[in-house]
Amino acid sequence: MDVIEAIRTRRSIRVFKPDPVPRKVLHELLDVSLWAPSGGNVQPWYFHVLTGKLLDKVTAGLVEKAKTWDGKDYVDTKPDLPRTGPYSKLLMPRRQSLKALQDPIYYPPGTKNLEAKQLEHREHMLRFFDAPAAIVVCTDDRGPTSIVSIGAVTQTICLAALTYGLGTCIMGVPVLWPEIFRESLDIPKDRAVVTSIAIGYPDPEAPINRFPRPREPLDKLVEWHGL
Ligand SMILES: Cc1cc2nc3c(=O)[nH]c(=O)nc-3n(C[C@H](O)[C@H](O)[C@H](O)COP(=O)(O)O)c2cc1C
Repeated sequence: MDVIEAIRTRRSIRVFKPDPVPRKVLHELLDVSLWAPSGGNVQPWYFHVLTGKLLDKVTAGLVEKAKTWDGKDYVDTKPDLPRTGPYSKLLMPRRQSLKALQDPIYYPPGTKNLEAKQLEHREHMLRFFDAPAAIVVCTDDRGPTSIVSIGAVTQTICLAALTYGLGTCIMGVPVLWPEIFRESLDIPKDRAVVTSIAIGYPDPEAPINRFPRPREPLDKLVEWHGL
């Protein structure tokens, strides 16, 4: 797969097959991803790879949080980095259009017990969509350059994953509760839990892995200077 094809075909995967990902594959994937760029080449990242019982323990803690979190109100969350939002008037319609594409899949017309289904969905999300593995990305440097670098390595992991037939979903929601990771993974107090990635073999048939993803047209986003 060439790079352009990888960029175009990567999409967030939210239903995974239960098959475990061999440690060797995860090792290779992370090892190659270390070639991601970083400001000053400081490589400000640490990775925690979670599978099996430890993943179950962490997700059990997160699912407990889902019970009191309504998906909108963030008062009981203490992320290590300031949470994005509320979105601006410009960005909000894009967020809403994602919801409009996903909601009919999660809650088809006529869905009964909507609240229970919504809770089920939040729990599924906080179980990393039942992926067999999750990668938590941390940093000792909360400066914006390092956070951009974390973005670069995170996307590199997601693109490299395609070579191994793996699907990923970058996930900001689980890290709203960094204390859950900190407790189970012995993450030092001053190390920030920045983001997380669900990773596993995708279920290609699942509608939530297939809906068309909108993108703004380039013309709205670019200004050309000097050419
Ligand atoms: C920083 C970041 C955080 C995200 N957090 C979540 C999340 O918590 N849950 C989720 O389902 N998707 C999450 N996503 C995935 C986005 O919804 C997805 O990238 C976006 O809708 C574009 O779709 P695509 O990745 O399929 O192209 C996140 C993506 C990024 C980059």
